[in-house]
Amino acid sequence: TADADLAGRHVVVSAGGTREPIDPVRFLGNRSSGKQGYALARTAAARGARVTLVSANAALPDPAGVDVVHVGTAVQLREAVLKAAADADAVVMAAAVADFRPAEYATGKIKKRDDKADPTITLVRNPDILAEISADRARPGQVVVGFAAETDDVLANGRTKLERKGCDLLVVNEVGERKTFGSEENEAVVLGADGSETPVPYGPKEGLADVVWDLVQERLV
Ligand code: C5P
Repeated sequence: TADADLAGRHVVVSAGGTREPIDPVRFLGNRSSGKQGYALARTAAARGARVTLVSANAALPDPAGVDVVHVGTAVQLREAVLKAAADADAVVMAAAVADFRPAEYATGKIKKRDDKADPTITLVRNPDILAEISADRARPGQVVVGFAAETDDVLANGRTKLERKGCDLLVVNEVGERKTFGSEENEAVVLGADGSETPVPYGPKEGLADVVWDLVQERLV
């Protein structure tokens, strides 16, 4: 990897997992630690890029030399990513974005009461930010990267998802015991819209991040 091969580039990385509030004390969340997204932000900065990291609820220190925007929900993450993407050369959506959010937010804590029926939480769909950015590129030649966690038929499901989302690259993780969530290490296959398939062996999240930036770099115009 050449040292400053991303110099003069602006890249946007989303990381962490969104939290969708139910009431003032509860939310719907997921197990994303943010470590892969933070590794992507750090490695891009080390390779000379200007980096905007849109971070959702990651319990990690802001990386040095990176612009960090902290968000909570999918709707907030969308706003921040779209804003930063306006002049970006590449957008990498490593965040685990909730597919659904509660239709209504209860302004007071939902209480259990014997004289009342058990509460029901109705969910509505969140916007698919990756699909939206891919369909509507803020600048020509912008490279868009998505992530997918799959438990079975990893490659076939990944290929279908890549096509559905319309991104240039899709990093497909096999979700398993010691892999992916909260771990320091990862194993993945990076699928390209051009049909390419790049396996990344089990190793530190920085290693996968560097492979992603190599593949992005090749696609930048
Ligand atoms: O559809 P699925 O959630 O498996 O897709 C994962 C990819 O899509 C990730 O890159 C994630 O950041 C992105 N995503 C998104 N908006 C959503 C859901 C997922 O951008 N509402």
